[in-house]
Amino acid sequence: MAKPRKRFLNPELRAAIARQRKANASTAAQRQRFASHRARVTELVRGAAHRSALCVLGAGNCNDLDLDVVAEAYDEVHLVDLDERAVTAAAARVSADRRGRFVVHAPLDISGLVDALPRWKAMQVSEEGLLRFPQTVAQAVATKLGRHFDCVLSGCVLTQLQLMVVDVLGDQHRLFAAASQTTLLTHLRLLDALLAPSGEAFLVTELAAVEAESAPRDASELLAELVASGGGFSIAYPPLLSATIEDDPLLARGIRAEVLRPAWYWHQGPDRSYVTYAMQLSRRAGES
Ligand SMILES: C[S@@+](CC[C@H](N)C(=O)[O-])C[C@H]1O[C@@H](n2cnc3c(N)ncnc32)[C@H](O)[C@@H]1O
Repeated sequence: MAKPRKRFLNPELRAAIARQRKANASTAAQRQRFASHRARVTELVRGAAHRSALCVLGAGNCNDLDLDVVAEAYDEVHLVDLDERAVTAAAARVSADRRGRFVVHAPLDISGLVDALPRWKAMQVSEEGLLRFPQTVAQAVATKLGRHFDCVLSGCVLTQLQLMVVDVLGDQHRLFAAASQTTLLTHLRLLDALLAPSGEAFLVTELAAVEAESAPRDASELLAELVASGGGFSIAYPPLLSATIEDDPLLARGIRAEVLRPAWYWHQGPDRSYVTYAMQLSRRAGES
């Protein structure tokens, strides 16, 4: 039987994927540091109104979730990531009697960027192709996952998608702004495509790095200041997320979005913490 041909990845893309895997490998052993971040994210998904099936996008090492607690709350937990090694190791840590509730989808690109970025870099894309991209990718990923979910968690993956655009296109590329906005809309459309009629999604994202581990200020205050000054990572800027939902006919009709309080710090190292928040997306009454 002929061997399947290996897909050619352009060098920037290969490097971008390697960077994600390397980051996961380097934070795998830092579970302890993530404790307060993990408690906050675990509480969010545990508090969802319906708890039959949970989907975690960008699950990685699952350092941001207590998988045993989550498995207690949900009948099925789907873990999705580009990095098969990280997510398989995370699922293997779950106690044996609960492991059967987990379904691993990896390696799976939730953004469509792995296929698209080399073409976009070479300007091999039409305006129409870019406009169609978010729904095409959202539907394709949803089909691969094969069901709808009561709760979908986007676990600090949004900024990593943007990083891939930066790594492969570079911020001076003619398509950079359009590619970034398309990436954000694709992610929001994916959350919508995965949600069950009464489901809710939590888009958890870091907005900005702060220097000390003993983060000095109230995180919600800092978040409000960043919003007022337009600071932080552009793709995670809360008013941009809200405006993208409001300006998109499909999302505006079906989705209500709210930034939850309080924000919190995600401590990653002695000198590195991120101010982090969750946006909750739920269906408007009558929409499914
Ligand atoms: C910052 S980490 C999130 C942390 C992770 N939730 C944890 O607790 O370990 C971002 C994750 O997104 C994954 N990722 C990045 N780009 C992706 C893509 N295009 N499709 C799927 N997963 C992706 C990375 O492999 C990584 O596991």
